Amino acid sequence: MSNTKLHAAITAVNGYVPEYILTNAELEKMVDTTDEWIQSRTGIRERRILKGEGKGTSDMGAEAVKGLLAKRSIDAKEIDLLICATTTPDYQFPATANVITDKVGASNAYSFDINAACSGFIYALNTAAKFIESGTYKKIVVVGGDKMSSIINYEDRTTCIIFGDGAGAVLLEPNNEGMGIQDAILKSDGSGRIHLHQKAGGSVNPASHETIDAKQHYVYQEGQSVFKFAVTNMADVSAQIMDRNNLTADDIAWLVPHQANKRIIDATANRMGVGPEKVMLNIHRYGNTTNGTIPLCLWEWENKLNKGDNIILAAFGGGFTWGSIYIKWAYDSE
Ligand code: UT7
Repeated sequence: MSNTKLHAAITAVNGYVPEYILTNAELEKMVDTTDEWIQSRTGIRERRILKGEGKGTSDMGAEAVKGLLAKRSIDAKEIDLLICATTTPDYQFPATANVITDKVGASNAYSFDINAACSGFIYALNTAAKFIESGTYKKIVVVGGDKMSSIINYEDRTTCIIFGDGAGAVLLEPNNEGMGIQDAILKSDGSGRIHLHQKAGGSVNPASHETIDAKQHYVYQEGQSVFKFAVTNMADVSAQIMDRNNLTADDIAWLVPHQANKRIIDATANRMGVGPEKVMLNIHRYGNTTNGTIPLCLWEWENKLNKGDNIILAAFGGGFTWGSIYIKWAYDSE
């Protein structure tokens, strides 16, 4: 079937997680918590932590991109644009995307970061798609990754049990068979910032001895409030994108949810009427890697995906930001 409209299709996926595994048992020794509490409230059993002096988000992103290009035998110089979605950039500036293009040798690409907390990867994917749909570029890499351990207080049991480190990357190319990104609904509401933010280190409250002593450079989260907004908004937007595209639960091959809490994922799947067998879930092994969760799921499930599969990506995060993207998968795995 030929279709004159250009779609932006994911044509390769890769991921990278660091070796070090931080288990619930180890967290039990660090804060007042239990494996039972963590598993029943979040679904998490372990998460990865990037160790090593001078290692940042770009190191994980670069590993993911190198593997991505190797999979398709693509020279890094063929990349037109690289977008990195991250909330834990290597530096305030330059952009982590700039660092990644340098580390992988993508010397013909321009590059920039997108910060939309846990929804960053889907925001970046939609932005990248527009450059493909318009015919502007032919090869775009979208990286989603975070070294959450760099902004987590390992004395705060309400946050340190949730987050982990990791990165994923996808290649976007034009498709004229109607495969690829079909629709996106993306939202934000900055009034939600009071419930989830980093108090210091930005221009409002630059880092100082006082801010460090007060541990204000760590994630601050009012878990219950964020949970309520996440459940409602992620489920609403996913149901909305199904309605708008006349999709029933039977039409959907996979839900790819941001991995923040298994209970939020279950609520979203229930609202969509999608059974657990169609939900990508790896939160038990990686925790919440923020911008890494969705590409890491796609990476892990890549060889189960078939051309034409209807896939819904859904995310919710700090900002607040949230949204959903509907994709027709473009290729069968070997
Ligand atoms: O990805 C970006 C967006 N973020 C999210 O989507 C996260 C959304 N929020 C959540 O996932 C959940 O709210 C949490 C996992 C953060 C917390 O789970 P919860 O079921 O909402 O727990 P809670 O905050 O209502 O706390 C219940 C109790 C409290 O004790 P009291 O006041 O009832 O005595 C907490 O102090 O559990 C206590 N608690 C813990 N106990 C053992 C909080 N953290 C822990 C812990 N271990 N790690």
